[in-house]
Amino acid sequence: MIPVNRSIVFVTGTDTGAGKTALACLLTRYLSRAGVSVAALKPVCSGDRADATALLGASDGGLTLDEINPWHFRAPLAPLLAARRERRRLKLSQVLAHVRGIQKRFPIVIVEGAGGLLSPLGEGFDSLDLIESLDAIPLVVCPNRLGAINQSRLVLAALSRRLARRAQVVLMSTQTPDTAGRSNPGLLAEVLEPKQVCVMPWLGIPRQHPSAIAISRVSKTIRALARSLWDK
Ligand SMILES: Nc1ncnc2c1ncn2[C@@H]1O[C@H](COP(=O)(O)OP(=O)(O)OP(=O)(O)O)[C@@H](O)[C@H]1O
Ligand SMILES: [Mg+2]
Repeated sequence: MIPVNRSIVFVTGTDTGAGKTALACLLTRYLSRAGVSVAALKPVCSGDRADATALLGASDGGLTLDEINPWHFRAPLAPLLAARRERRRLKLSQVLAHVRGIQKRFPIVIVEGAGGLLSPLGEGFDSLDLIESLDAIPLVVCPNRLGAINQSRLVLAALSRRLARRAQVVLMSTQTPDTAGRSNPGLLAEVLEPKQVCVMPWLGIPRQHPSAIAISRVSKTIRALARSLWDK
């Protein structure tokens, strides 16, 4: 049994395209299959709603697409700018109220940001503001390649010391690994706590594919991640 405590896990990343949705889908599926009631949200989407649709597919069906993603702006830009193009304005308080409402119904809430930690989400706020206001556990996703140590440490440096200690870094394997990808996990574990770092294998199938979680190395990684998230 996974020792989950009622909490919000905020999936952020070192950049857009880092693998946040891939990881959020895997964690959601893993917890659902373990009998944990979990909600996976992507409150703010810009461009398409593919991430929200992927999270819907990974979920048990307790939420509608509009609950998973209440704010969708069409332009493929930072959500702040995409919203302004539609003469709309999104405030931090609106997103907080939505996530807190969902939190009343689900013990575990997984929230995917948009872009990286400091990408503007709405008027005067970004993912960092959401993490702090929600007192969420930060999950930092970073492609495992040359530069990953610097990028993941920069994200952790932007968090308060307390949140950085709580954070987990997930190095996402790439299709064609580079030399640094092999040494990154050890080096990162040396500068952080070893339990704060894990490596997600390359899936070889689309990120939202239901059988991704059945790949043995993938489920082992998610199990270890879940233990580190809630075993503190
Ligand atoms: N471990 C992996 N195995 C296979 N594919 C992966 C893996 N990690 C990421 N990808 C692929 O990389 C691409 C980007 O991943 P993903 O969409 O999850 O990133 P993101 O951080 O959510 O991006 P966005 O900023 O658009 O929300 C996707 O096509 C995804 O399937
Ligand atoms: Mg995404």
